[in-house]
Amino acid sequence: MNKTTVPDVLRAKGQNKLAMVTAYDYSMARLADQCGLDMILVGDSLGMVSLGYDSTLPVTMQDMLHHTRAVARGVDKALVVADMPFMSYQTGVGRAVYNAGRFMKESLAGAVKVEGGAAIVPQIRAMVESGIPVMGHLGLTPQHVAMFGGFKVQGRGKSGELIAEQAGQLEQAGCFCLVLEAIPPGLAGRITKKLNIPTIGIGAGPECDGQVLVINDLLGMNDEFTPRFVKKYADLSVIIKKALTDYVQDVRSGGFPREEHCYRED
Ligand code: KIV
Repeated sequence: MNKTTVPDVLRAKGQNKLAMVTAYDYSMARLADQCGLDMILVGDSLGMVSLGYDSTLPVTMQDMLHHTRAVARGVDKALVVADMPFMSYQTGVGRAVYNAGRFMKESLAGAVKVEGGAAIVPQIRAMVESGIPVMGHLGLTPQHVAMFGGFKVQGRGKSGELIAEQAGQLEQAGCFCLVLEAIPPGLAGRITKKLNIPTIGIGAGPECDGQVLVINDLLGMNDEFTPRFVKKYADLSVIIKKALTDYVQDVRSGGFPREEHCYRED
């Protein structure tokens, strides 16, 4: 089985839609990789989904390296993309290249993802020149949540032009792909037409070159809030809670373990 490469992703533009999900550990990554996904993103949504923070800001390099390594061990086919955490690339070019290099060397990621526009173009250029493939991310960039005042739709009205302009700058800087999050579909469609690199939408409508969802949302593992743009393909929270409740009952009633779960004496 051939591993998906960055040139494969670039070639998909206008040919076939790209499917990406997040994963944060080995066992989920193994399952996801058997389902024909093009890319698996170790998102810094890890912080909210798996670590229980209320934003992605506290996520560290150590968290991301650890989880990316686990995901990469479970993946044979998809391109593994690692999210660079808040403040691992914003503070300078040297630091950005060093930290991105750690994802490639220590975690065996195939690419990194960064959030933001013009302000991080020098970092993106330097990473790409060092041989590190970079995915961009514009629109609702969760690392800017403090500036946005919450997880809010971006790019309505005139502010959409700035996002479109920055999309062009990220392509020029060498990004091989661009995530567009929580922006109006018309804007995402215009950006997708204008760029030669694929766009991957999350809450950005059907005209993007591909889609990404957080795997826990897609599988219905979160029984609290579900964003409007999520389609739940399963309701695992119900299945998991039923299984665990049945297990507790069995343990208490003596229904588990039974003979078939025990070793023979001889
Ligand atoms: O961290 C993440 O999971 C992401 C995706 C939602 C694109 O950045």
